[in-house]
Amino acid sequence: MAYVLGIDLGTSSLKGLLLDEHGKAVASVQKEYPLIHPKSGYSEQDPGQWILACEYVLDRLKDEVADFTEKLEGISFSGQMHSLVVLDEENNVLRNAILWNDVRTTKQCKAITDAFGEELLAITKNIALEGFTLPKILWIQENEPEIWDKVRHMLLPKDYLGYWMTGTMHMDYSDAAGTLLLDVEKKEWSEAILEKFLIPAAYLPELIGSSGTTGNLRPELANRFGFEKEVKIFAGGADNACAAIGAGIVNAETGMASIGTSGVFLAFEHSAEQDYQGKLHLFNHTIENGYYSMGVTLAAGHSLNWFKDTFAPDSTFEELLEGMDAIKPGADGLLFTPYIVGERTPHVDSKIRGSFIGMDTNHTIKHFARAVLEGITFSLKDSQVLMEKVAGKSFKRVVSVGGGAKNPDWLQIQADVFDAEITCLEVEQGPGLGAAMLAAVGLGWFPTVTACADVFVAYKDVVRPIPENVAAYQKIYALYTQVYGATKELCHALAKE
Ligand code: XUL
Repeated sequence: MAYVLGIDLGTSSLKGLLLDEHGKAVASVQKEYPLIHPKSGYSEQDPGQWILACEYVLDRLKDEVADFTEKLEGISFSGQMHSLVVLDEENNVLRNAILWNDVRTTKQCKAITDAFGEELLAITKNIALEGFTLPKILWIQENEPEIWDKVRHMLLPKDYLGYWMTGTMHMDYSDAAGTLLLDVEKKEWSEAILEKFLIPAAYLPELIGSSGTTGNLRPELANRFGFEKEVKIFAGGADNACAAIGAGIVNAETGMASIGTSGVFLAFEHSAEQDYQGKLHLFNHTIENGYYSMGVTLAAGHSLNWFKDTFAPDSTFEELLEGMDAIKPGADGLLFTPYIVGERTPHVDSKIRGSFIGMDTNHTIKHFARAVLEGITFSLKDSQVLMEKVAGKSFKRVVSVGGGAKNPDWLQIQADVFDAEITCLEVEQGPGLGAAMLAAVGLGWFPTVTACADVFVAYKDVVRPIPENVAAYQKIYALYTQVYGATKELCHALAKE
């Protein structure tokens, strides 16, 4: 029995997931690392910490799994998207990585939009957002010219880890799509964008498919960890794309609703032709010639955490959410919008804030909790509706992952709001599973990611929509969609106070 290792380089930790040829988890090890916030709105990380975490994970796997060094054949990655790593001519890291959740680049986003307008959308299929990589490059050019002078290479986090393993620099298409430097349809770096912003093409790594090999584990590392045979390294993909293949999102009929701190509604796309006008992200997938669209709710699980910490700090989540099914859809006239840290989809608006609408004296904490669950789900529905309206999609099934999959009442709310069957993964492994699948395909264990998903991904029971709830939610969702417009001016005015 041979093994593959999926490494998920996340925002707060690095996780290694070791799988056998049947996709059975043999072991998993996680190592946390800190975020650095030098100023409000800044979010950075020391790439050296990712290497230390990876060494820790490999050492632990060696301790825990007797035949790890004998049977490991391939490694691949899932990475936090958009975060910028800059290296000098000797390949040394020049500064902390600027992460996807850093929001210092509003000015640079405006400059990109002013310089390119509609053409940016035509080339990259996305609009300029603070989280993406290009604005971070412009920020360094403008604010740290002494660093920019020394930059010779630019990578994303997982590609830096890949470089550490192989000594070669590559970036797969799914992650490159999140830089705003890729011509998404042509699958090449955009000369027009590079020229405009004075970025030498030589600073960017070679582009490669997600299950393409970038080399073998360097001999020094192979010796250091005692691997007995060659370990092949594969490019890997963006974390959302890896989570998608790990949830079996390899065709257009199945959507994914992922509720973590933020929330994502994601769908497979056969082409990059859908004109979402930047309201949804549209990126290359980890599957050859495939794409995916996704909408992001900035505060999904975060809204529920905030609500519990603020209004029910002494309850557990189980206690707070107990009895949700006793309250009818719509929480007896209470609506919540989860815009507590601003929003990305469908309203790109950093100043909008959340609201409870319709409070009355009959409402209890349980009504509020139900309204929060519903508001988060409505926000994901906004992305689903865009996919249905613009691209004519119709989801037969939605795979629910993350916190939203843990509560049966929330699963029923999702089935009723999305008006689709909801299913959960038999064992939830996160994006690391998608990464391990890419290594399995790269090694030739399977001809395609889809064939691998047939073996590696298994689902639990299905939760079906209840027709009267679906009808009730159609009306309530129509009201929910009006709250943004009705509260926008108020929120913007309050932000100025
Ligand atoms: C996607 C995004 C986040 C990061 C998290 O656009 O910014 O989901 O990928 O790692």
